[in-house]
Amino acid sequence: MEAKRERWSSRALFIFAAIGSAIGLGNVWRFPYLCNEYGGGAFLIPYMVCVVALGIPWLMMEFGMGRYFQKGAPGVFEGIGKKWEWLGWWPSMVAFLIVSYYSVVLAWSLRFVISSVNMEWGVGEAGAEAAGGFFFNDVLRLSSGPGDLGSIVWLTALCLLIVWVVIFFSIWKGAKESGKWHFVFVIVPWILLIAVAIRGFTLPGAAEGLNSYLTPDFSKIWSPDVWFGAASQVAFSLSVGMAGMFAYGSWVKKKADITNSTIIASFGDMATAFLAGFAVFSVVGFLVQGLNINLEDVTTSGLGLAFVTYPAAVSMMPGGNSLVGLLFFLSLFTIGVDSAFFLAQGGVIAPLTDKFGWNIKKTTLGVCIAGFLLGLLYCTQGGLYWLDIVDRSVSFYGLLITGILATVVVGWKFGADKLRLYVNETSDIKVGRWWNWLLKLVVPLAMTFVVIYGGFIQDLSYLWDSTKTEYGGYGGWAAWVWLILFIALLVSIGLNLIKTRKKGDK
Ligand code: PHE
Repeated sequence: MEAKRERWSSRALFIFAAIGSAIGLGNVWRFPYLCNEYGGGAFLIPYMVCVVALGIPWLMMEFGMGRYFQKGAPGVFEGIGKKWEWLGWWPSMVAFLIVSYYSVVLAWSLRFVISSVNMEWGVGEAGAEAAGGFFFNDVLRLSSGPGDLGSIVWLTALCLLIVWVVIFFSIWKGAKESGKWHFVFVIVPWILLIAVAIRGFTLPGAAEGLNSYLTPDFSKIWSPDVWFGAASQVAFSLSVGMAGMFAYGSWVKKKADITNSTIIASFGDMATAFLAGFAVFSVVGFLVQGLNINLEDVTTSGLGLAFVTYPAAVSMMPGGNSLVGLLFFLSLFTIGVDSAFFLAQGGVIAPLTDKFGWNIKKTTLGVCIAGFLLGLLYCTQGGLYWLDIVDRSVSFYGLLITGILATVVVGWKFGADKLRLYVNETSDIKVGRWWNWLLKLVVPLAMTFVVIYGGFIQDLSYLWDSTKTEYGGYGGWAAWVWLILFIALLVSIGLNLIKTRKKGDK
């Protein structure tokens, strides 16, 4: 079995696979926003500190452990001790839930690629004003709340099907063959973002937008909000804590360098986010000037940025609207689609085939169909609310809590030093003993701070402060944030109890 494990065919391929998995929607719609919000260029300092102190040790741990045990996350934790196997399944469930809605955001991006062709939401100032209504009323046909699902929006469902077909055909032949798609889905969005940024630079108002994005304000960097923003973004952006990177590490050639590749991938991710900021803020600056409003009045992050602010700006452009819209939404799709297949492949399919010895193609098909079917929930008229609830549950709490547990168990039980020496054996850059403490203490403590400061204090404050509401103002529905995590945990424990198929088992 061991000898037959798949391998990335080259070092470059592994690095691109890591970068491709890391770069995604977060690089476009969260990093630039955080910079703008938290001190412009000065934010790069806390961000870089978090990349070096948290992101790199954590990612190195996942790659290193995957290579050591030659397994995806559950196999790694089973290797540490059978009783820990659930700790690999939990993030694997989290990965599955993330991809179930991440793919829907990609479906909306595709929908906007199509709508860009004839500028369906309109051009000029009228178009800019209609953009919000177009997204919420025409694309989503949004209902009144999570309790009101309404019907499935079939055009979105069709786009979702296309997304899953692309995911399936990128990964159905296994890791080695899927690698080349990472090249495509890293290089193409880079080119598209550069093209959009160049268009952005030539627009009036771009300079103000970029000033806001980059002008350093060092006074902000001591605020805990800034550190919360930086630490949570590093974890999300590097795609750690979702099981997948363990599997990606398990496909690295036995003698290959891990440390160096981790560093390159982490900085590649950051550079992409930085680049995306130019495409975003030049265009936002233009919109703000054109409508004669303040930058604070437009949404510069998340879905609002991608599907309302950006389309509005595109409407206002003096020419080539359709083309700019098309390029931007294609960049969103291409930057995100390999994060999606990484989640499916590294996070779910590899753990299942490792454990049960199932056939890769069939397992891939099954996971893709299951992901699509679950995704239909978010294609309903109430889907956006559910997307928001599940997102909070898994990509915030799920990622961080499983990450904290994983770093603690690897750091203290398996042994940070053992892992460090193992990784150093084949690395040009040898990491010193300080690395052990980053893994054993700094990463888990920093992430605990993030969970408490940006999570519990926000979402549970309604318990002691009557002016606050449950997460998202969804009333009792917000309980699903916790329920989903708990159910995922139970399923993980259930999987832990099932015997792992060993070589030679029938
Ligand atoms: N890192 C991806 C992004 O920035 C998101 C992601 C997180 C993808 C976790 C896969 C897993 O968008």
